Amino acid sequence: MPERVPVMAGNWKMHKTSAEGAAFVRALHERIGEPRGIEVVVAPAFTGLAEAIGAAAGSPITVSAQDCYWETQGAFTGEVSPLMISDLGAQWVIVGHSERRQLFGETDETVARKVRAVRDQGMRVIMCVGETEAERVDGETESVLARQVSQGLAQVTAADVGSLVIAYEPVWAIGTGRTATPEIAQEACAIVRARAAEALGEAPAAAMRVLYGGSVKPDNVVELMAQADIDGGLVGGASLDVDSFARLIEYRGTLAS
Ligand code: PGA
Repeated sequence: MPERVPVMAGNWKMHKTSAEGAAFVRALHERIGEPRGIEVVVAPAFTGLAEAIGAAAGSPITVSAQDCYWETQGAFTGEVSPLMISDLGAQWVIVGHSERRQLFGETDETVARKVRAVRDQGMRVIMCVGETEAERVDGETESVLARQVSQGLAQVTAADVGSLVIAYEPVWAIGTGRTATPEIAQEACAIVRARAAEALGEAPAAAMRVLYGGSVKPDNVVELMAQADIDGGLVGGASLDVDSFARLIEYRGTLAS
């Protein structure tokens, strides 16, 4: 099996001013030093990207946007293009977060366009998928994940895999404190990888990082990360505090604290 370097990504959602974000990045770097064998990502709001990128310079921390539009430029008032994000020096964009899907009308079609557009600017993608509570209760988890993965990846190829991460985030676990059990998270992440294999091929999918997200906390990260198909976390609430995010990054307990 290919070695997959874990990713711990903090999604700050609509939190932190740019000054607060920059201070966080500096404090996090001081706290974690140069961790080996893990990639660390923070995702501020658009307004905080430039300051966070400046603060992260020379550190192992990379910076992600939380969304983008798929066109490069044009009459799209209020939107931000992948070119603009890449121009700031961001390395990643989160696409298809469930809050975008549920509150702002994101569809599998727009997710696919955004994934392609981010890759066209040479940035890396964290594409989010996950079922709602009603879908899980109705036994639709597998079909929802299959649809979201295959349609979301419709415009990329195996050549994009090194720059593509999929985050499985069950909607019922996001911000609720109800983490999926490690077994449920593993089962779903394995489905995500199997569907990615259908879209991109077995070997590329085996090399692709699949993250779990949904109430990841210092006290549940170890058992989640022990699962065969979980290669990291996409973390909301627990990424807002330097100490708790650092504890997630240091989940193996081998780094300085
Ligand atoms: P949470 O958010 O960790 O606060 O549940 C996760 C996410 O929405 O990415």
